Amino acid sequence: MTAQIIDGKAQAQRLTATLTERVAARRAQGKPTPGLAVVLVGENAASQVYVRSKRRTSENAGMQSFAFDLPVETSHEALIAVIDRLNADPAVHGILVQLPLPKHVDTEAVTERIDPRKDVDGFHPYNIGRLVLKRPTLRPCTPYGCMTLLHSTGEDLVGRHAVVIGQSNIVGRPMALELLMARCTVTICHSATRDLPGLVRQADIVVAGVGKPNLVQGDWIKAGAIVIDVGINRTADGKLCGDVDFVAARERAGWITPVPGGVGPMTIATLLANTLRAAELQDS
Ligand code: GUN
Repeated sequence: MTAQIIDGKAQAQRLTATLTERVAARRAQGKPTPGLAVVLVGENAASQVYVRSKRRTSENAGMQSFAFDLPVETSHEALIAVIDRLNADPAVHGILVQLPLPKHVDTEAVTERIDPRKDVDGFHPYNIGRLVLKRPTLRPCTPYGCMTLLHSTGEDLVGRHAVVIGQSNIVGRPMALELLMARCTVTICHSATRDLPGLVRQADIVVAGVGKPNLVQGDWIKAGAIVIDVGINRTADGKLCGDVDFVAARERAGWITPVPGGVGPMTIATLLANTLRAAELQDS
């Protein structure tokens, strides 16, 4: 079997087009233009690429983009002051602080400082807690985008065994909660997991998000499984690759996301969806 490709780029374009229309309709009704503040501290090359893309895509959708590029030596206190200012600014509906932050900054304190109603990353304990309780408001973009991709296959997810590889706060944990909410049976694997290949072989759905090039081998994939590859890794020759050996896995999977052009674009489209949702929450 050769897998069908889950075209994340096309799905993202479709979602972004809908969001663009909804933003224009808001404006026609005299409601505020959704504003997204993206804060970058330092000069991490990958982060610079992601941040540029988030800003450009939000502007193209008719949203207002507020850019804060702060030097790497920005103190924790100065960053907190920026967040306080953005929390108080009514033109800013969404605040995103790009991770990772420099070591001298307390990432958890920064995450918790963002007003949960403006937390378009969905990382604040309030928003994670709501996801745990199956009453989500603002949901972490990457896992929420992965759910959109999974639903786009038209496959019934209920009762399927989903194996999530990775337990990060950004991907693995919220991903497992999303899959649980979709009524999957969920296994979370991490670096201490025994027999990762054996668990992946049982999976109807595999979501890999650890940042290890080609960790998941093709012969681990159950015939017909849906494979979602969240990894974005750069190989020695400068090419992008995921956490899954795409060429081999494609021969066994039923559906698979490519890298690039899979999860990445969907994450950014979902960020815009969250920004619009945040603006709606702040209308009243
Ligand atoms: N770094 C890698 N992924 C993300 C993300 O989804 N949000 C933020 N803020 N930083 C990230």
